[in-house]
Amino acid sequence: MILLQTIDLSKQFGDVHACDRVNFTVNKGEFLSLVGSNGAGKTSLVNLISGHLAPDSGRILFEGTDVTFARIHERIRAGIARSFQIVNLFDVLTVFDNVALSIFSRERKIVKIAALADLDRDVRREALDVLSQFGLAAKSAVPAGGLAQGERKLLDVALAYALRPKLLFLDEPTSGVSTREKTQIMDTVSSVVRAGAVTAVIIEHDMDVVFRYSDRIVMMHEGKFLADGTPQEIRANKNVANILLGAPLSA
Ligand SMILES: Nc1ncnc2c1ncn2[C@@H]1O[C@H](COP(=O)(O)OP(=O)(O)OP(=O)(O)O)[C@@H](O)[C@H]1O
Ligand SMILES: [Mg+2]
Repeated sequence: MILLQTIDLSKQFGDVHACDRVNFTVNKGEFLSLVGSNGAGKTSLVNLISGHLAPDSGRILFEGTDVTFARIHERIRAGIARSFQIVNLFDVLTVFDNVALSIFSRERKIVKIAALADLDRDVRREALDVLSQFGLAAKSAVPAGGLAQGERKLLDVALAYALRPKLLFLDEPTSGVSTREKTQIMDTVSSVVRAGAVTAVIIEHDMDVVFRYSDRIVMMHEGKFLADGTPQEIRANKNVANILLGAPLSA
């Protein structure tokens, strides 16, 4: 079943075609990776879908509804959430309060920062539940600014997950961490996402990670989709290999 569909979605910055008539389909329940070299258009595509960027042309359908011009919070309410390539945390707030704020924003409740200490019991329980799913419960009381890089990346994913999305975009959830931490982050993220039956699209440069965790892989190059297939199919695709190695494409 199709969850998200873009139709000829385009965005240009000057002469650069960040997204060039992209037809992207995400099926319900899949764990999909979006790959491609620097500047391929991956983040732009996610920005268009999440509402952080307005398209020049084309359409975005989510569960069959046109959300091309919907506001960011309307898309979140419809079930689209995303994390950011550069983490988006409140460093002076505790890990717990970061998650609680995310839950509050989902519920569209106005909350004073000073009142976070006496949250209602449901939010408290839910925040702790999210934190323990992401292995961060022991860090609840630590300011987010005091976390190690791998923990910061996980918390950023947890904030998006706390919005209870149907479709979760993660923009480079393992960037800037060691190989060992990458595995830890991906094991956690994939198990939480699969247990919660959330459909996920991950932007990732490390092809070992991509091949290991994805149901399907889509490759972008210069704003266009160049390949779409199972890990096995993508492994065997010469154009993908050439792009990853920086070699010219075959006709
Ligand atoms: N706000 C902007 N203004 C001008 N150009 C932009 C803007 N955002 C993106 N671009 C350009 O659009 C192209 C696609 O950028 P994008 O960030 O989507 O690539 P990416 O695939 O996410 O790359 P990376 O792997 O480095 O994160 C690049 O050439 C980039 O310089
Ligand atoms: Mg990017």
